Amino acid sequence: MDLFADEKQNILISDAKDYIAKLFEGHSDGHDLEHSMRVFSNAVAIARKEPPCDMEAVALAALLHDADDHKLFDTVNNQNARTFLESNDVDSDKIEFICTIINSVSFSKNRGKTPDSPEGKIVQDADRLDAMGAIGIARTFAYGGKHGRPLDGGIEHFHEKLLLLKDEMNTKTARELAESRHAFLEEFLARFEEENNVEI
Ligand code: NI
Repeated sequence: MDLFADEKQNILISDAKDYIAKLFEGHSDGHDLEHSMRVFSNAVAIARKEPPCDMEAVALAALLHDADDHKLFDTVNNQNARTFLESNDVDSDKIEFICTIINSVSFSKNRGKTPDSPEGKIVQDADRLDAMGAIGIARTFAYGGKHGRPLDGGIEHFHEKLLLLKDEMNTKTARELAESRHAFLEEFLARFEEENNVEI
C-alpha cells in the first residue's frame, strides 16, 4: 500500500530507498540497509497509531537515520542525508527538521534526552525497537562477530543497552511493541546463561 495519496511523495520515498541501498552496499553488520528498512517500517507503523504528525519527515528521517553514522561514514553535518534531500528539492526548513530528527536518534549520543518533536520521538522509538527482540539479538552478534567480540561481549551489550530500552520508549505504541521484544531478550539471556555454564 502506498504511504501517501500524493504520488510525488511516494516517489520521493522510493528514491530515498534506492539512495540508501547504494550507500549501504557491502555493509552487513547490523547497521545496514535492512536495519534502515525495518526502522522505516517500525516508524510508519508507530506513526499510524499515534496522533497525526508529519509522516513524510518520519519516513525520510527513518530511512536516512544511519546515512551519516560515524561507525560507517566519514561525513560531517549529515552530508549524505542532505545530499539526497537537496538533490530532490525538499525545502530547506524540512531538511533542517529531518536532520534534527536524525541527530536525536543515536542511542549513545542521546542518553537520557528526549527528542522535542513527536516525529523525533517516533523515529527514535523505531530505531530502538530494532535493537530488541530476535532482531536485536541477531544484530548484536552480527556486529560482535565483525568486530572480533566474543559471545560474552554480546551478552554484556544486552545489559549495557538492550535491556534498558523498554523503559526508554517515548510513545505509547512503541512501549506496547517493546513488551514482547523485551520478554524475548530475557528468555534468550536465561537460556544462554544456562547453556554457557562451562565446568572446568
Ligand atoms: Ni539505527
